[in-house]
Amino acid sequence: MTTPNKSHGRKAIRPSFKPRELMTPTPELVGVWKAKILTLFPTAFPGVLGESLTGKALQEGLWQLETVDLREFGIGKHRNVDDTPAGGGAGMVLRADVLGNAIDKAMQDTTAARGGNWPLIYLTPRGRRMDQALMQDLARCDGVTLLCGRFEGVDERVLEHYNIQEVSLGDFVMTGGELAAQALIDATVRLIPGVLGNQASTEEESFSSGLLEHPQYTRPTEWQGRKIPDVLMSGHHGKVAQWRQDMSEEITQERRPDLWQEYEANRPAPKAKPKKK
Ligand SMILES: C[S@@+](CC[C@H](N)C(=O)[O-])C[C@H]1O[C@@H](n2cnc3c(N)ncnc32)[C@H](O)[C@@H]1O
Repeated sequence: MTTPNKSHGRKAIRPSFKPRELMTPTPELVGVWKAKILTLFPTAFPGVLGESLTGKALQEGLWQLETVDLREFGIGKHRNVDDTPAGGGAGMVLRADVLGNAIDKAMQDTTAARGGNWPLIYLTPRGRRMDQALMQDLARCDGVTLLCGRFEGVDERVLEHYNIQEVSLGDFVMTGGELAAQALIDATVRLIPGVLGNQASTEEESFSSGLLEHPQYTRPTEWQGRKIPDVLMSGHHGKVAQWRQDMSEEITQERRPDLWQEYEANRPAPKAKPKKK
């Protein structure tokens, strides 16, 4: 096996800053991918995004993050942002007028106002489920504005008026959209060139080729009586690549028949061997 360097091809990381310090207003960096978050809990950011590679990239200005506090757009002395659902029922709903004012403010200095590519997304269990294709699309945009719901969600008219894309983290219900927003940003930011030390790592990982990733191993070569497969120690690049491909196919077939079906349908036909004369 060739000796992997210590960072395994990814950037070395120095956690020398406090994540919240990354949220102090910084000058707008032209042409830098940006996430704007509309939330009732701005202190939840950067959260885990301030750590490790995403945090370092944020500090280096490879991407930007801004929160818009929904409370600032609240109504009256108590800055109310929600009200009871029309027609009755449990819980509260975020008001259309409050959200409308916050969205207008958040979008006004984005490229969307000049016809640029800057989607507006509402995180909701009702939405399209997040996947790698969505993250690849978002990484190619100028930025993204994410609306984090709370309570029973948001007034439907806001979604219609702004033609907001609805995106879900998965088939479960959380108390708010903030964790879903952080998951989406993390998965998108790591696709921005320069954020990971070795861009090849995103080309080889799960979903990039339509398959799940093959198993990974590192030292020690034997642990609890379990050895690293011989082929990975052979130093034969062709055989290693073939083993990894075979394992990816096997695991995908076994665990995700839906992905496997799609992969098979799109797999290029094997090249025909030239006829012997
Ligand atoms: C308690 S949930 C509201 C659930 C909503 N009443 C429903 O049944 O679909 C409050 C907020 O959390 C966020 N949220 C909850 N689960 C989510 C998920 N799976 N994906 C994305 N956002 C989610 C949404 O922003 C939502 O507005």
